[in-house]
Amino acid sequence: MSPPSVITCRAAVAWGPGEPLVMEQVEVDPPLPMEIRLRVVCTSLCRSDVTQWESKAQPSLYPRIFGHEASGIVESIGEGVTEFEVGDHVLTIFIGECQSCKHCVSGKSNMCQVLGLERKGLMHSDQKTRFSIKGRPVYHYCAVSSFSEYTVVHSGCAVKISPTAPMDRICLLSCGAAAGFGAVWKVADISKGSTVVIFGLGTVGLSVAQAAKVRGAAHIIGVDINNDKHEKGKAFGVTKFINPDECDEPIQQVIKSMTDGGADYSFECIGDTGAVSTALQSCSDGWGLTVTLGVPKVKPEISAHYALLLSGKTLKGSLFGGWKPKSDLPSLVDKYLRKEINVDDLVSHDMPLDRINEAFNLMREGKCLRCVIHMPDNSCT
Ligand SMILES: NC(=O)c1ccc[n+]([C@@H]2O[C@H](COP(=O)([O-])OP(=O)(O)OC[C@H]3O[C@@H](n4cnc5c(N)ncnc54)[C@H](O)[C@@H]3O)[C@@H](O)[C@H]2O)c1
Ligand SMILES: [Zn+2]
Ligand SMILES: [Zn+2]
Repeated sequence: MSPPSVITCRAAVAWGPGEPLVMEQVEVDPPLPMEIRLRVVCTSLCRSDVTQWESKAQPSLYPRIFGHEASGIVESIGEGVTEFEVGDHVLTIFIGECQSCKHCVSGKSNMCQVLGLERKGLMHSDQKTRFSIKGRPVYHYCAVSSFSEYTVVHSGCAVKISPTAPMDRICLLSCGAAAGFGAVWKVADISKGSTVVIFGLGTVGLSVAQAAKVRGAAHIIGVDINNDKHEKGKAFGVTKFINPDECDEPIQQVIKSMTDGGADYSFECIGDTGAVSTALQSCSDGWGLTVTLGVPKVKPEISAHYALLLSGKTLKGSLFGGWKPKSDLPSLVDKYLRKEINVDDLVSHDMPLDRINEAFNLMREGKCLRCVIHMPDNSCT
């Protein structure tokens, strides 16, 4: 077989923070050693894509290709890759698993030291990009960049999955839905009969609700400023919906009154550090646990009165629900195939790549859950 050559394909490129994406012809390099090149099949828009795209913090990382929640098919493999073959179905992973660093072997963490969250818009291995437009480098996002018909990822940032799994739905397990499930089952490891409060009922928060229901939580309180989330929440297990804008007293007081002093567990799924403090205040003294999942748009610092911690509450955070992608993700896909988890109803829209700006607008306006972007098949030129 001849070595893979550069592919020219279409990608939705951001030329500046907050600027509408532009469909461009991009060149995608062949995979380097230990990398694979994928034909992206479907990619859903996660709030983190929107938050990063809106942020003015890294103006030098443009042009850039966002997207990190994706399914694809291996198109070619780089030197040394034995885990994948051309034609394998995969999910991309925004925090990879090298399977040999201190964290990967710890059994306690998914914070891989080699393939962890990439923040410089480059590939982990050589700190370069694999995309270009007429010779100009195009930056990556989380070393995934799935808003392109083809992309290159490290082989540690993809997970082989069953070819029978529907690519247009399980892409949600590549980030948002899995993050919510893992926060409940793995990070908080909640017990049956618990009282749970969830701040923010997007895909992440609704996945927290679903996971809490599966575990047998007795009360699942959903908090959201968007009343459209009331019915959606109910469908995923929320037993009581509260809109903080419609309360006469601070939301933490409302929750404390409803739960005899505070919930057993609270989950922050908004991306607002103020809500992290509120979530901490809403859980019980002595054993209350707050898990924060959100990625803040502004003000990254958390402030909380020290007494909240002295009183025995715990604050934890997690990326990707604490799952180790290679080890844990295939079993989540199997759970989906056995219909033990509902991912389908987290998809509110399906659309082609051409309409990706519409997906960004829907998410900014709070009018969608997940928009799944479908790539055309015959994209290679
Ligand atoms: N930790 C991880 O691994 C991980 C994975 C995926 C997403 N995230 C982050 O999790 C957060 C949620 O992601 P999502 O995709 O579900 O987002 P989303 O935008 O679909 O959902 C957020 C929800 O929060 C609600 N909300 C906004 N402000 C609120 C407020 N002040 N009070 C109550 N509700 C409020 C919105 O109405 C919306 O329903 C984002 O910050 C995202 O970046 C983290
Ligand atoms: Zn995400
Ligand atoms: Zn590692």
